[in-house]
Amino acid sequence: MKRKQESLKAAVLISGTGSNLKALINAITSGTLDLDIVQVVSNRAEAPGIQHATTAAIPVSVISHADFPDRQAHDAAVAEILKRSRAELIILAGYMRILGEAFTGQYSGRMINLHPSLLPLYKGLDTYDRVLASGDSETGASIHFVTAGLDSGPVISQVRMPVLPGDDATALKTRLGPLEHQLLTSTVQLFCQHELAYRQGEVLFRGEVIRQPLQLKPDGNFH
Ligand code: GRF
Repeated sequence: MKRKQESLKAAVLISGTGSNLKALINAITSGTLDLDIVQVVSNRAEAPGIQHATTAAIPVSVISHADFPDRQAHDAAVAEILKRSRAELIILAGYMRILGEAFTGQYSGRMINLHPSLLPLYKGLDTYDRVLASGDSETGASIHFVTAGLDSGPVISQVRMPVLPGDDATALKTRLGPLEHQLLTSTVQLFCQHELAYRQGEVLFRGEVIRQPLQLKPDGNFH
């Protein structure tokens, strides 16, 4: 992949399919995202997403939690790789491992997570089932700054979609996937343009505190 000296350097952490990693790579390749992915980390050796990184010649480290005595030791190994990579932004894209407070504290304002719900609704797992069980008429995805609490950091951006009659969890996941890809690439591009920042638990967009998450519209812009 073409590397530009001045591009923002990012590390992407994955655990599974890696379709969001692939979306970032595609956006870089097509010239719509000015990012340099310097490192991919997976906590699972068998994560299919690793292949996307390998194909794009991005360094991959597999740091399996099973190889460490506790969370702290695993987190420390991940932190060491991230430090060496010189990544400026850490992107959790389907990373299914809870990170300890010592770790998240090191990356305050520099680590973001993609979550498949309209946060603060449905933190944690099984979001689609919980949306359906609640009878919600819409759902979506959110990107937030990572803080110590699970899926609890300030929300930067969201994309919304309707829940349709007859939807099951698979249908929701299938329809949300492409929207998540767009949300992630568009939000990361705002970081690349230095338009997003974190200050004392709040999100700054173009220097102003936002009271509501930025909303991604079908035209690809935020409103
Ligand atoms: C996405 O749905 C994301 O919201 C969640 O994990 C999934 C990752 O998908 N955190 P993929 O591995 O990028 O395909």
